[in-house]
Amino acid sequence: MSKAAITGIHGYVPDYVLTNAELERMVDTNDEWITTRTGIKERHILKGEGMGSSHMGAKAVAGLLEKTNTKPEEVDLLICATTTPDYIFPCTANLISDMVGIRNVGGFDIQAACSGFLYALTVGTQFIESGKYRKVVVVGADKMSAITDYTDRTTCVLFGDGAGAVLLEPNDDGYGVLDSIIRSDGSGQQHLFQKAGGSRYPPSHETVEKRWHYVYQDGPSVFKFAVKNMADVSAEIMERNHLAGDDVAWLVPHQANKRIIDATANRMGINTNKVMMNIHKYGNTTAATIPLCLFDYESQLNKGDNLVLAAFGGGFTWGAAYVKWAY
Ligand code: UT7
Repeated sequence: MSKAAITGIHGYVPDYVLTNAELERMVDTNDEWITTRTGIKERHILKGEGMGSSHMGAKAVAGLLEKTNTKPEEVDLLICATTTPDYIFPCTANLISDMVGIRNVGGFDIQAACSGFLYALTVGTQFIESGKYRKVVVVGADKMSAITDYTDRTTCVLFGDGAGAVLLEPNDDGYGVLDSIIRSDGSGQQHLFQKAGGSRYPPSHETVEKRWHYVYQDGPSVFKFAVKNMADVSAEIMERNHLAGDDVAWLVPHQANKRIIDATANRMGINTNKVMMNIHKYGNTTAATIPLCLFDYESQLNKGDNLVLAAFGGGFTWGAAYVKWAY
């Protein structure tokens, strides 16, 4: 059975940079608190009327196709992980496909909050392994600024906007996504969610007044679950693939909080210089964090490197993947 190898990666963040200094002028916060509690210094924000996650996803996919010399008509499937779709329907994958000229193929969104990219990668991998498709594009795109309350200091300092995309192709030489684990626990839903806008609480004057269209997070509760589950699932995927800390070239963690990342690396026995980190410049971009890490570190990756991807997010959802880098 062929494995699904990542054969290209591209990322995109919008131009506008929201710094900790600017946030200090918006809410009662300070650079010292944000930096020591989260590791974030700045984040990119998508400005402009009528611009959604698809805008950033399309930029990432267009760059990916160009880089990998892939024509839109060669793509068999496009999957988009997003928590901030342009619309409730149609799905953002369709919008991205249209923007880059991919037509007449399947496309759908996956909603698994901050674990979305890991989930989408796992799903995309199945289509390659089964032999059904040969070129699958997996995108993570989120415009978190669209659902961030910039009067709430407990959440507005955390999030940023961005997108990243990978191309998956069959590989018979032992490279690619060799294993993955996806998990969820719905009992954690009330700790991190957007209360209104869906079918349970459709938009109304009341939902807007109550600010229910923004991200709500009980930070300390999420922190506790994230530290435990991201570390546990990373240790589990290493154990079942007989990987020791020294065998892992890179940990590629979801970028929600530097302290969660450090705890995961510590549990895996991985030195901090082998941990991909870009939270300081992008903040938490939800489904885009992992592909943006791979994009930023692409030049430092070598064929055969063992990567462990790990994420935790709202839902709760979490997971890990073991990837042998293919180029
Ligand atoms: O990506 C999906 C999964 N999400 C995560 O993994 C996020 C997990 N949670 C976290 O990363 C952390 O809980 C936060 C970074 C969100 C918060 O850090 P914390 O160390 O858990 O702080 P806290 O919420 O316990 O707040 C400590 C204090 C509080 O003040 P009091 O009650 O002690 O007086 C907060 O009101 O810090 C205060 N605070 C702030 N102060 C300055 C909260 N936000 C801010 C702020 N600036 N922006």
